[in-house]
Amino acid sequence: MQKNNLIKTEAYVNGKWVNAGTGKTFDVNNPATGELIASIPDMNREDVRQAIDAANDAWPAYRSLTAYQRATLLKKWYALILEHKEDLATLMTLECGKVLQESLGEVEYGASFVEWFAEEARRTYGDVIPAPSNDKRIVVIKQSIGVVAALTPWNFPLAMITRKVGPALAAGSPVIVKPPSETPLTGLALAYLAEKAGFPPGVYNTVTTTDSSEVGKELCENRKVRKLSFTGSTQVGKILMSQCSSTLKKLSLELGGNAPFIVFDDADVDAAVIGAIISPFRNSGQTCVCVNRFFAQDKVYEEFVAKLSSAVAALKVGNGLDQGVQVGPLISTKGLNKVKQHVEDAVAKGAVLTEGGKEMGGLFYQPTVLADATADMVIAQEEVFGPVAPVFRFSTEEEVIKMANDTEYGLASYFYTKDVSRCWRVAEALECGMVGINEGLISNAVAPFGGVKESGVGREGSKYGMDYFMEIKYLCFGGIK
Ligand code: SIN
Repeated sequence: MQKNNLIKTEAYVNGKWVNAGTGKTFDVNNPATGELIASIPDMNREDVRQAIDAANDAWPAYRSLTAYQRATLLKKWYALILEHKEDLATLMTLECGKVLQESLGEVEYGASFVEWFAEEARRTYGDVIPAPSNDKRIVVIKQSIGVVAALTPWNFPLAMITRKVGPALAAGSPVIVKPPSETPLTGLALAYLAEKAGFPPGVYNTVTTTDSSEVGKELCENRKVRKLSFTGSTQVGKILMSQCSSTLKKLSLELGGNAPFIVFDDADVDAAVIGAIISPFRNSGQTCVCVNRFFAQDKVYEEFVAKLSSAVAALKVGNGLDQGVQVGPLISTKGLNKVKQHVEDAVAKGAVLTEGGKEMGGLFYQPTVLADATADMVIAQEEVFGPVAPVFRFSTEEEVIKMANDTEYGLASYFYTKDVSRCWRVAEALECGMVGINEGLISNAVAPFGGVKESGVGREGSKYGMDYFMEIKYLCFGGIK
């Protein structure tokens, strides 16, 4: 790290760096080495209530700033994030294990949401609607929704914060960020840079805790929080949704996926292998849009499996800070065990290991390819969240669309073909929120990110993203002569 002041060991509430009311702390460890990085406040429900009160008190003044003033604050924050790119990336790699090159990419990706929403802040246009009678005028305005709670995951410690907080701050809403206990330090560093950017006290708050369920409950049930945005598992998303029902809170949920990646007979197989390498092994397979299931058509099946296996064999695994490493550790023993169980189950049911399939000590697992995967394997239905690529065989377009859609999830899908008509047919038939067509990397700030079915509710990023942080108000002017 070039500047140690980015490592904050206190939470940030109402413009002050604070400890937990109880004085309790918890440790943040490096998943690549097990070493302690820092100890930070383990806050409880009462601490969070104070943060909510501060945010709510800050709301009237903040929403009264002009869009231009809010955009200027966001632009300053954006510049500071980029100025500290190397340190933020190092911190991220230290606490989540992601390889440094990917962490650097995430800083840019995360910053791009701040820049995008700084620009969008000035475009929250309303409407004038032709009235049903001449003595009336109908106008629609968009207003800040109020205090926003952002519950973010460990797999993208920076970008999932900015993707939620960017539009909230742009819309005039104060935020309470609750980063995960595995990777809170990047979140605290972002809070420090937000403070430096000049957001008024109470507008940007970050609380840290190991008691996600109690703190989550407060964020869901407190009336002063008007919107909750969560990225994480479908299981937790469902709990939050039911807890939010007590206050009918607005929700955005970006949840699990079970992404199919289809290689048709007419595909450019080499291009498909490049896309295939990017997607399931990004962040060691720990992203919601990672490919979980590969489907290759009969004629290209063997070629695809062979080329994918040799590309996977060439991936370098290790500590994300080391030069040339492409795949880092898994985040936890629980995550590692899940990967092991999925692979063992698949092999027991007839899958053939063509590459990998072994633990490498610590939290490391070999990037793995499983040929001859079938629908009865656990890996076909459950997100593995690890560096494993099962390959299923199919014969017809109709059959593979059924196989791809045979899941409760619907986040991302990918397919490779050279046939333009098939591009449209398949893209329209896949039940998901995002489709990569001859492309394995689809995430960016200008496009709407989100899923259908049990993959979530709402969209983040893009011109649609602001709407989820604003309320529409209709004004009816009467008595017009
Ligand atoms: C996620 O895994 O939740 C986000 C992935 C992305 O933004 O690309």
